[in-house]
Amino acid sequence: MNPTIDTIMNRRSVRSYDKRPLEETDKEAIINATLRAPTAGNLMLYTIIEVNDTEKKKTLARTCDNQPFIAAAPWVLLFLADYQRWHDYFLACDVEKFCARTGLTPRLPAEGDLMLACCDAVIAAQTAVIAAESLGIGSCYIGDIMENYEAHQSLFDLPRYTFPICMLCFGYPEAKTGNAHKLTSRFERKFVVFEDGYKRLTAGDFDEMFKGETTARFKGRTEIEGAENIGQHTYRRKFGADFSIEMNRSVQAIMKNWKGA
Ligand SMILES: Cc1cc2nc3c(=O)[nH]c(=O)nc-3n(C[C@H](O)[C@H](O)[C@H](O)COP(=O)(O)O)c2cc1C
Repeated sequence: MNPTIDTIMNRRSVRSYDKRPLEETDKEAIINATLRAPTAGNLMLYTIIEVNDTEKKKTLARTCDNQPFIAAAPWVLLFLADYQRWHDYFLACDVEKFCARTGLTPRLPAEGDLMLACCDAVIAAQTAVIAAESLGIGSCYIGDIMENYEAHQSLFDLPRYTFPICMLCFGYPEAKTGNAHKLTSRFERKFVVFEDGYKRLTAGDFDEMFKGETTARFKGRTEIEGAENIGQHTYRRKFGADFSIEMNRSVQAIMKNWKGA
């Protein structure tokens, strides 16, 4: 259709990288494009940490649910939702005195501010993904960065009003990957895009939604590890898995710290 749409339609997560480092000019182009991402109120409520230290990458490969490809990725970017920068600036600008003088109620960053900062950080991350893809550089999100908060807090000196919301691994796709252009499936648009209001899906809708997916997601079998359908299998492998339990514990710890509880 056009090169931008083509880039988006052909992107896939890349977890196996050529060893060669990324060109500095490519990294700079990706960062510059990322910093042009839309941002709430033009506040840029995020921070990007380039993880270049080999030992830190090895630690992340372990703390992010044991994913060795993180340590092998030529370029790793950690995206923080960040209200610390503005909070510190407000303090530096005597906002407390300003509030007292003008009758404003002083407050600290709260849940809504965190959500907005998460939006900013993820939108910046996805901008980096598409910029990289347009340069022939593959990427993969690491959602497991939300786990093991205490370890990541000390690894990166994370202050109170920062939240490690996602991480990206980048690298030139390994040439020998056989399924280099295999795209994963998606639900049909009618199950995802509604008009003028939410539509709860019925049992019939679910049957239809997963009809073509049984082979891909359930390997065409009638049972995997005691699971009799895609829902049970997905519950076991994703929602009910140890990494999900840890992620929720860790996010609660981040929230507690953020709220000063
Ligand atoms: C928020 C988020 C977190 C993800 N976390 C991981 C991860 O920790 N490890 C991984 O290998 N892939 C991760 N992925 C990649 C997804 O598995 C991948 O996007 C999905 O399977 C669809 O495949 P595709 O990106 O090739 O289209 C993540 C993707 C997103 C958006």
